[in-house]
Amino acid sequence: MKILEIQSLTKRYGSVCGVKDISFDIGQGEIFGYLGPNGSGKTTTIRIFLDFIRPSSGRARLFGLDSHVHSSKIKSRIGYVPGEYGIYEEMRGAEYLRFFGALRGCQKPPLRDRLIDIFGLDISKRIKSYSHGTRQKLAVVQAFMHDPELLILDEPTIGLDPLMQQRFYELLLEMKNRGKTVFLSSHILSEVEKVCDRVGILKEGELVAIREISEIKRLRLRSIEITFKQEVNESVFRLDGVRKVERDGNTIQLWVDSNINGILRTISEYPVENMSFRDASLEDIFMEYYSE
Ligand SMILES: Nc1ncnc2c1ncn2[C@@H]1O[C@H](COP(=O)(O)OP(=O)(O)O)[C@@H](O)[C@H]1O
Ligand SMILES: [Mg+2]
Repeated sequence: MKILEIQSLTKRYGSVCGVKDISFDIGQGEIFGYLGPNGSGKTTTIRIFLDFIRPSSGRARLFGLDSHVHSSKIKSRIGYVPGEYGIYEEMRGAEYLRFFGALRGCQKPPLRDRLIDIFGLDISKRIKSYSHGTRQKLAVVQAFMHDPELLILDEPTIGLDPLMQQRFYELLLEMKNRGKTVFLSSHILSEVEKVCDRVGILKEGELVAIREISEIKRLRLRSIEITFKQEVNESVFRLDGVRKVERDGNTIQLWVDSNINGILRTISEYPVENMSFRDASLEDIFMEYYSE
C-alpha cells in the first residue's frame, strides 16, 4: 500500500524554484531518505505534505488522501519534526507535550513516558532554558508519542549528540519493524545509509536519482589510495573498472568497481611507497550527481 504519493510536484516562490516536477511513491513500512544539501527543496516538499504551503502544480497524497483536501484527517495520522520552528518559549516541556497531546485528542500518548526516558528529557523546565539539542529531543518526543502511522522528519538529528542520534536511529528501526513509515530528510549521506531502505537525491529542487540502499551497496565501489615513490601521471589509470582518478603530488586516488586485476597490474609497474583500500561511502557513490 502506498502511504505517500507525489505527482509532478512543483513549487515556485516568485522567480525561485523550491522544487521542480518531483514524483515518487513510498510504501508502508519503508524508511525513505530525502537527501540534498541546503536549499535543495527538502523543507518545501515537507511543507506541501503538511498543507502549510500549496504547490504551484502537481499534488501530494498521504494515505491515498489529497494533502490539501484532507489535511486535518491526515494530520491526526502523522508525526512531524519541523526543520525550523518558533517553539513556545514560556511553556514548560510538560505543558508543550500536553498541548500537542490535546491537539490530537490524545490525553495519554502511549509512547510519551518511554520516549522521555530514552532521550533523558527534563520536561519540568521552561523551553526558553533548553539548549538546541534539548529542543530537538522535545520535538522528537512530540512527533512520536502518539504512535503515528507515518513520521515526517525534517533533518531531525541536527543538534543531537552522537549517543542521542544512535538512540534516534534505533527508534526509527523499531518503528519500521512495527509497520510504520518514515520520511527522513537529511543532508548527511552516512545517516541515510544507516537506516534507510531507499533514498531520493535532490539537487537544486530536482530529484536526480532514487536508489535502493542495497543496490548502492551491491555496486561495491571502492577507493584505492596509492602513494608512489615518484610522480606517476594519472592518465595511466584510465582503465576498465576505474570510475574516477585524482592526483595530489605522488598520491593517486582511484574509485574502482568490481574489476581490479588490471588496475593492480598497472600499479605494480611503478615503485609504491604505501597503499590503502576502503569501501566507498555513499558520498563517493553520489559524488557524480553533485559534480557538474
Ligand atoms: N518562503 C520562501 N520564499 C522564497 N524562497 C524560498 C522560501 N522557502 C524556500 N525558498 C527557497 O526555495 C529553495 C528550497 O528551499 P528549502 O525547501 O528550504 O530547502 P532545504 O530544506 O533543502 O534546505 C531555496 O532556494 C530557498 O531559498
Ligand atoms: Mg530545510
